[in-house]
This record gives sequence, C-alpha cells and structure tokens, in this order.
Amino acid sequence: MIATLPTPLLAAIEAETSTVPAPRLREAAEALSGAYRGKAALKAALTAADRAAYLAVRFPSTFAAARVVWDQLARAIPLANMQSVLDVGAGPGTASLAAHGLLSDMARYTWLERDAGWRPAADRLAAAMGLKPHHRNAALGSSLTLEPHDIVVAAYALNELPKDAHANVVDALWRAARRALILIEPGTPAAFEIVRTARESVLGQGGHAAAPCTHDALCPMSRRDWCHRPVRVARTAVHRGAKHAQLGFEDEKLSFVVLTRDPPARTTASRIVRKPIRNAGHVHLDLCAVDGLERTTVTRSDRDTYRQARDAEWGGIWPPQDD
Ligand SMILES: C[S@@+](CC[C@H](N)C(=O)[O-])C[C@H]1O[C@@H](n2cnc3c(N)ncnc32)[C@H](O)[C@@H]1O
Repeated sequence: MIATLPTPLLAAIEAETSTVPAPRLREAAEALSGAYRGKAALKAALTAADRAAYLAVRFPSTFAAARVVWDQLARAIPLANMQSVLDVGAGPGTASLAAHGLLSDMARYTWLERDAGWRPAADRLAAAMGLKPHHRNAALGSSLTLEPHDIVVAAYALNELPKDAHANVVDALWRAARRALILIEPGTPAAFEIVRTARESVLGQGGHAAAPCTHDALCPMSRRDWCHRPVRVARTAVHRGAKHAQLGFEDEKLSFVVLTRDPPARTTASRIVRKPIRNAGHVHLDLCAVDGLERTTVTRSDRDTYRQARDAEWGGIWPPQDD
C-alpha cells in the first residue's frame, strides 16, 4: 500500500510551497536532504524556504509514519474518549494531523515547538484539516513543565535534542501522558537506541509497550540490530520537483514505540521485524515475540498459511488477524 496525503492537506502544502521560488525551494530541499543523510548539521533556525522544503519533502513521509503509529495505538486502546494531545517538537503539527479521523472532533491539541516561525503555516494546515491547535512556543529541556494530556506524542523530535537530555525529557513526557506516549524516530540504529532506552525506562515505571512490541519483555534486538519498518509514501508533484526525483514513491523507515498506562489489547503473538524472504516454495519470516527473535519458515505444503505468508509485510503482525 502507498500512503497519500488527504486532499485538503495536499492543497494546503501546495499553497505553502508555491510562495517560494522553485530554485530556492530545490536548494533548501537539497540542504535538508543532506542534513538528513548526516552530511550537514540540522539547522535550528529555519527560513521560510527551509520550512516550505520540509513541507515538500519530509512532511508526506513523517505524516505517513505517524499514521502507521496512530493506527497501532487505535488497535491497542480505545481512543474515543481521548480529549487532549500534546505534540512536542510539533513543527507543522504533522503527528497531530495524522490522527485525523481517529480521535474525537472535540479533542484539544497543544503543539509545543521551539521554532515560532512554524506557527502561521501550521495553523493553515490545521485549518485545512478542521483543527484549531493551541500553540506553546518553548524548548524541551529538563526545566520545562508539561501539563498532563491524554496522549503525548514526540515525532522525529527527540533525536534533535542533545543525547544527555533524552532520559529527563522522556521521563517528563511519560509523566505528562495520562493514557499513552508515542515516540517516533527515524529508522536508524542511533535513533532506535533512543526508542529502546525510552521503552525500558517507561516499562520500569509500570507502563506497557503496546506497539510495535507484542509483549512487555526486554527488547530482544541485539545491540548491533535495530527495530524499524518501512512505510511506502507517494511522492507529490511538488516533492518530485523539489528533489528532481523520478520515482513516484519512496520508502520512509521509522522506529517507534507506543507506551500505554493500561495493558493494551494484544491480538497477536509476534511482529515481523524484517523484510520477509520469499523463495520458491517457502517464505522466511523474522519475528519478535515474548521469547525473543525467531525465524519461522512457511512452506507451500501448508497451503493457507503459505498464502498468508506470501502476503505478509515487514512491520505486520504474525499470524495475521482480520482488522
Ligand atoms: C524533524 S522536525 C519534526 C516535526 C514533526 N513532529 C514531524 O514529525 O514532521 C523536529 C522538530 O522538533 C523541533 N525541536 C527540536 N528541538 C526542540 C526542542 N528542544 N524543543 C522543542 N522543539 C524542538 C524542531 O524545531 C522541529 O520543528
């Protein structure tokens, strides 16, 4: 499946990016991509062109990643009564916007962001999706007090903080989370370490790992391995233009954890943690389960299960459930 943006959001992004001359947008997009490939430092102070470039080339991917995670939260705990969301390092409000349709229309959103320059564009994107967020212009850090909210989300934000701030900030986010804390990071070994450490800390404080984990046991990933998954994202015309990209899609890799106060509904035994290996007549699935990592091999002789295994996807659950 290829993730696409809701039409009103796509139109709002096109309106934002159309205010920046195309060569300037391409230059900013190249600088941004270079920073994400680790070739330059991420800028703390963004220009209008940098923000437009983020909307063109990163927003569709971080939106799609957040949507995958919200869908998993929705399977784990009931969301109908969630009344408030605190989105930290909100940028243009991506993670909150991706919750569209899953939370009540009455839910209140607070977008905490150190870069006040995001606010006008964030408000226009929010209006396109029928949201009216409350903004808090502040920098996450040890001395910041956070009001309790039903759900706290930090998407692609913790990895922008100094390493030595992670533990205190995660503790503060968990304290502020009345029902659930969502952490989403790039699907890289370094960013997964942030997720793994946060998971251990919150489990030690009585929380539950609702997703992608199917258990609250110690994360079995070796120190050389990391838990991540892809989400396939459609490239918009503005994205292709800004990046000179030919392909109509790209794969965003994410690492994430959904932490809940209440025990989550656990519908499955294991999660597929690597790309399934499909050979003639058999499929290998690498699974994470309560007993650790294991490989299961499904052969053609097991007809029904084999059909399911051929359709199985990295990041999906095993055995599959109707949902
Ligand atoms: C990569 S963007 C992610 C934006 C959005 N959450 C998303 O998923 O698209 C990271 C955001 O975190 C913000 N940020 C970084 N460090 C921060 C801090 N210490 N306090 C508040 N916001 C911070 C940046 O300004 C930026 O808007």
